[in-house]
Amino acid sequence: MLKALARPLDRLELAEEWALTLVRDMFATLEHAGGVGLAAPQVGVSVRVILAGSFPTPLAPDRPLVPTSALINPRVVWASAETEPAWEGCLSFLDYRVRVVRPRSVRVDYLTPEGTETRIEASGFYARVLQHEIDHLDGILTLDRAASPEDIESAPTPTSES
Ligand code: NI
Repeated sequence: MLKALARPLDRLELAEEWALTLVRDMFATLEHAGGVGLAAPQVGVSVRVILAGSFPTPLAPDRPLVPTSALINPRVVWASAETEPAWEGCLSFLDYRVRVVRPRSVRVDYLTPEGTETRIEASGFYARVLQHEIDHLDGILTLDRAASPEDIESAPTPTSES
């Protein structure tokens, strides 16, 4: 499931009970785990639904506060040429963190759970969470993005997981 290509949802499906339940359950799972993002394949459902948010922490007080929201069929439509590395955790792999180089800013098109077409531009940590979650929809894990063994470290203390 984690290595599979997840399928998009159409607007009609969005209103179906199972889809509403999926999103609700994902919010509950993320809140319980204390994470910053979650993708449907991580809860065993291979559809293109993610949750993502950003908030300041004692270790990263400069992170923007972006309330966690659900994005349906999210698509990166633009990415900055500028990239940066950062350590990423993942709720599906709590034992290690991976240093991943990603574009610093992205524009993402998606549907809200209500079916409204939306575009956002995100930078820094929020952009990273979005890219990490969209990777999950394409079966791409942080380990797949490690450039060398030095980019993988064990993580006894979970930090920001997605
Ligand atoms: Ni993850």
